[in-house]
Amino acid sequence: MVDLLSADFAPPTFQLKSIHFTMARQFFVGGNFKMNGTKDSVTKIIEGLNSADLPSNVQVVIAPPAPYLGLAVEVNKQSTVAISAQNVYDKASGAYTGEISANQVLDLGATWTLTGHSERRTLIKESDEFIAEKTKFAIEQGLSVILCIGETLEERKAGITLDVCARQLDAVSKIISDWSKIVVAYEPVWAIGTGLAATPEDAQETHKGIRAHLAKTIGEQSETVQILYGGSVNGKNAPEFKDKVDVDGFLVGGASLKPEFVDIIRSRL
Ligand code: PGA
Repeated sequence: MVDLLSADFAPPTFQLKSIHFTMARQFFVGGNFKMNGTKDSVTKIIEGLNSADLPSNVQVVIAPPAPYLGLAVEVNKQSTVAISAQNVYDKASGAYTGEISANQVLDLGATWTLTGHSERRTLIKESDEFIAEKTKFAIEQGLSVILCIGETLEERKAGITLDVCARQLDAVSKIISDWSKIVVAYEPVWAIGTGLAATPEDAQETHKGIRAHLAKTIGEQSETVQILYGGSVNGKNAPEFKDKVDVDGFLVGGASLKPEFVDIIRSRL
């Protein structure tokens, strides 16, 4: 029996089309506003999306700063655009000053959260295990999650990119078996906010490795989990990833605050 999920299985060309057809993953574009914006600017960005011609088959999720989640839910009129928090805690409520509750995020009408963004891993020192716990709790409460992973420049230079991604993913697969509410965002730290995006070939290579690793840990689900690339994606370079079969979309930082975000959403047309 041929194992379609094994990393080294290369399907013959005539089979490739049908395999992609049956395992098609929806193109997904996330916008991470980070700690940027005001009531006014967040409203304007979302109004811009409201009036844009967005493809009906592209899933868009925008993550404004927590204080503007309710506003974003109210202003958004696009049925293909959902609102996300950038972070949540691993408890519903209680004496956790300054933390953000998944339940309160849901109460505001937002339906997603990011977890494990590298800025939280490095600046706030969040561990793989803590990120996994938050991811688990968020899903249990009813949120979907964009789980961010990725290596630093030192780790890349040391040739351990996939080991780092595997370690970050394993913390999650150890405590979560159903990955239907998880989208993975591969964001090499050296590419975030630097203008130095990974090449489409490099991204494809790493995404393929990530999917092969997931095949080992979560089995068949690895074929349906969307894997986004993040790190200096913009309106110009987004179309270059078009034919990369394991790049299912993008997580966009800086460019999600600009009109070119619409070009990224439309980059597969
Ligand atoms: P960037 O950020 O697009 O500004 O590089 C990406 C991210 O951090 O999600």
